[in-house]
Amino acid sequence: MKTEIIEDVAIAAEILQRGGLVAFPTETVYGLGADATNAAAIERLFVAKGRPSNNPLIVHLACLTDWTRVASELPGAAKQFMEAFAPGPISVVIPKAAGIPNSVTAGLSTVGVRIPAHPLARQLISVCGVPLAAPSANRSGRPSCTTWQSVLEDLDGRIDAILRSAPCAIGVESSVVDCTTPDPVLLRVGGVTLQQLQRVVPATRQVASETSATQVARSPGLLHRHYQPAAEVLLFSAVEELKTLDQALTHKAAYLGLQLPPRNALFELTHVFPSTEAYATGYYEALRATDRLGLLRVYVQASPVAGIGGALRDRQNRSAETRPRLG
Ligand code: TXA
Ligand code: MG
Repeated sequence: MKTEIIEDVAIAAEILQRGGLVAFPTETVYGLGADATNAAAIERLFVAKGRPSNNPLIVHLACLTDWTRVASELPGAAKQFMEAFAPGPISVVIPKAAGIPNSVTAGLSTVGVRIPAHPLARQLISVCGVPLAAPSANRSGRPSCTTWQSVLEDLDGRIDAILRSAPCAIGVESSVVDCTTPDPVLLRVGGVTLQQLQRVVPATRQVASETSATQVARSPGLLHRHYQPAAEVLLFSAVEELKTLDQALTHKAAYLGLQLPPRNALFELTHVFPSTEAYATGYYEALRATDRLGLLRVYVQASPVAGIGGALRDRQNRSAETRPRLG
């Protein structure tokens, strides 16, 4: 399959309507779109990403009034969250409508629903006239893609087209909130913080950090390897912690952080971000750059957790999971 790089929304919509796969920009990360009502297209999407079939997809709508096409009910909390934060980086988990194939929701009776704020994404969904299932447009397990070039790197020859646009503004995914329980549960922190959600529904709580069997059943995404480059990711808090590493620092390593690296360190790639926001926007792309250079280690300074930093820190922890940590 040849992957076309396109800029015309009408062409992208035509491909999607006939069951094809098109990557498109959102304000969080690039998504890999497929017609959420077409089971064959959904099957191709799982294959293209190499995604485990037990990990459900988020369905994207152009506006809230379309919720009846994908869900059987809009619980009060979900309505309040959508009214407060959509279009934007929030996904609500609500009871699924019968017309959505079971493969979309990995057999769950609930569906994740999001209204992206990116104008091209909304235009694409409107022109298609169908809800679009869209996971992040990366090979499963890899860092998400915030540029069209990274999408091409992972999915060239596996999808029909990429709708080319500028790099994504936020750089980490949407917050996923389960609204099917009496009190809403934040399953994945993203562009909307727990504090912002609690201002709208005070009873909202964070999913417990211990992944219990019930939680895994409710959010299978917690199960899988995520956001990992080929290089080993080592988290640290303060630059002083790196001073004891001396030689290791010069050996095919990269440095990502908010502070300058130690003066004697010779990294093959150094990214010092001017703010937590810029760190979040550039994090995945920086991890991908370490793979392009064939690096073996990435020293990642743990982000402060205020604002978007909470989502960034979650992704950093997941990038480093099952691997040794500093400090
Ligand atoms: O910002 C985003 O959300 C991006 C853009 C493209 O919209 N999409 C995205 O999709 O990050 P994906 O597939 O990479 O992550 C979706 C997450 C997974 O952790 C999945 O388990 C969870 O949402 N999810 C989806 N449907 C769910 C459901 N019915 N119940 C619980 N969790 C669900
Ligand atoms: Mg993803």
